[in-house]
Amino acid sequence: NASNEHLTCTACSLHQWRANVVPGHGDHNATIALVGEAPGATEDREGHPFVGTAGRKLYDLMRQAGIDPMTTWYDNVVHCRPPGNAIREYPDAITRCPDLWLKPELASMPNLRCIVALGATAGTLWFPGMKAGELATMARVLSSGVIVVGSYHPSYVLRGGGQWVSDSIIDSLRRAMMYAAIANKMNEEGQEWTKT
Ligand code: URA
Repeated sequence: NASNEHLTCTACSLHQWRANVVPGHGDHNATIALVGEAPGATEDREGHPFVGTAGRKLYDLMRQAGIDPMTTWYDNVVHCRPPGNAIREYPDAITRCPDLWLKPELASMPNLRCIVALGATAGTLWFPGMKAGELATMARVLSSGVIVVGSYHPSYVLRGGGQWVSDSIIDSLRRAMMYAAIANKMNEEGQEWTKT
């Protein structure tokens, strides 16, 4: 479902090293979108987001939160793999990619109610200036009505973050599910407030 323009994008330096552009993927009719940082080695090879070890950890945490991984949309701030996964060394990608690809993709989702920003790179897109530890408990409502929930990144668990990081991510995912359900219900009923 990606445009040819997307797959031949040369807007930032990362195009030089990629095997594949990694556009958003999943259920385009979903109410929840999960947004990570950038493709890793497996994603670069396969052309889809969250298909490597971080993705497996994310799916595991989603199941623990009561979310079926088949029912959501997956995306990243940056759509091409930064060499060595060192995204901070490529600020041109972070400045250009989200406006060109991530934000239009999210805006095209007809039922989107909630975005989960996984990690500090996605978090700072919507909560500028916040640190990772602060992001994990934040939420905000965009002018579109879509709610953004901050979260730690599943890779942090894999790097030895401990059980409290898993618990925190599960908590963010549960809040996202709750916000999405409330927003969805209000949307169906055409009202601005509801009984929860
Ligand atoms: N895979 C992705 O698609 N995004 C991440 O942020 C990490 C791994």
